[in-house]
Amino acid sequence: ATAPDLAGRHVVVSAGGTREALDPVRFLGNRSSGLQGHALARTAVARGARVTLVAANVALPDPAGAEVVPVGSATELRAAVLDAAATADAVVMAAAVADFRPADYRESKIKKVDAEPEPIRLVKNPDILAELGETRRPGQVIVGFAAETHDVLPNGRAKLARKRSDLLVVNQVGDGLAFGRPDNAAVVLGADGSETEVPRGAKEALADAVWDLVVARLGRRPPD
Ligand code: C5P
Repeated sequence: ATAPDLAGRHVVVSAGGTREALDPVRFLGNRSSGLQGHALARTAVARGARVTLVAANVALPDPAGAEVVPVGSATELRAAVLDAAATADAVVMAAAVADFRPADYRESKIKKVDAEPEPIRLVKNPDILAELGETRRPGQVIVGFAAETHDVLPNGRAKLARKRSDLLVVNQVGDGLAFGRPDNAAVVLGADGSETEVPRGAKEALADAVWDLVVARLGRRPPD
């Protein structure tokens, strides 16, 4: 049996990958499946939390007991996460959020032309994790994920500091690692300098390791 150590807590988890529309039928996207975010939601429910799962383009059945808010783009994900974060004890940003979106959305389908196509101009999306780090409620625990292909730990440390998160789950991606697979391996970096290695295993095991670290940081603060 799982200890109900998140009873009385509200947690927000983002999952999946955002899609940034180019026209009514096309988008820029990424390979995030939503499996890790779903595992985080399921394990949080099992530990007694009230769970809001903001799911970006996830083709998985809704986890039982979680409130699921489906979203498409980074803009939609931002609105849903910030709204739910207003009452949350912890926010875990497992979603792969597009850093950029097309500068102009075409209302009708972009036509094939004989000439070379126009380049796609991009503009920056807001960094939701950084925003959460700046606007957090007192005692709220903020967790980010970072997928790195090289210099995994130094890049993770820099990202943790830049985004003012409490915890950053860093995993190595590329070469068939992480994306769309049921297993994952990671190092969880803490703003307090801690470093927790989670060996390769089920995404549930990584999820539980993340909640253990969140629970430790929520400490003795009583639930609202
Ligand atoms: O900077 P990078 O995209 O590598 O950071 C990854 C972390 O930041 C993830 O937790 C992701 O959910 C979050 N993120 C965000 N808003 C963005 C880009 C990433 O919240 N625009």
